[in-house]
Amino acid sequence: MKPLRIALTKGRLEKDTVGLFEKIGFDCSQVRDKGRKLILPVPDAGIEIVLAKAADVITYIEHGVCDVGVVGKDTIMENGHSFYEVLDLGFGRCRFALAGPKDKPFYTGYTAKCIATKYPKVAREFFERKGMDVEIIKIEGSVELAPLLGLSDAIVDIVETGSTLRENGLEVIEEICPISARMIINIASMKLRKTEIESLMGKIEAAKETV
Ligand code: PRP
Repeated sequence: MKPLRIALTKGRLEKDTVGLFEKIGFDCSQVRDKGRKLILPVPDAGIEIVLAKAADVITYIEHGVCDVGVVGKDTIMENGHSFYEVLDLGFGRCRFALAGPKDKPFYTGYTAKCIATKYPKVAREFFERKGMDVEIIKIEGSVELAPLLGLSDAIVDIVETGSTLRENGLEVIEEICPISARMIINIASMKLRKTEIESLMGKIEAAKETV
């Protein structure tokens, strides 16, 4: 049988995910010494690890070329459509927030506010719930620049330690929701590879408890 393919988010969540897998007893030495290699076998475990950008983890799971994925709730909220979200892995904790220049009231005036964000869907839904009409501008990274340059009144972004906001004279105006890493499963794989997936989930649950 072909190995169970697990897509991991590169970067922010990578270290904690590999740490969790090692705690389960998976030999992740090839992942640790990966160089530029993107598909890494885990010896004697019947699994293969794929390293991908967050939004691509969702694409690979939805199209069924990977069975299991580890991705942040932020990416799921922005890009996720059809898969099972089965576990909160407990790491990668941060939050979505509306933030803007310090000491500058946001909820005043009558003109529509402009919001810069890497997460236009999350931002749109947040303001729709408030019944507020806003203009949303998509930014690819370092969103904090947008209000500093005068492009937007505020941002919707993830806040972890709060350093990026603080060091740029910005502050949280309103918390939107908490975020953490989640395990997601392709819908067909959940049926076809049920035993392996349930066994993996059991091991992860057990490892989480010993953190
Ligand atoms: C994220 C986020 C903030 C920062 C928050 O960006 O978009 O900029 O981290 O973290 P902090 O509260 O601990 O300062 P990331 O580092 O992923 O890079 P990017 O801005 O280039 O997308």
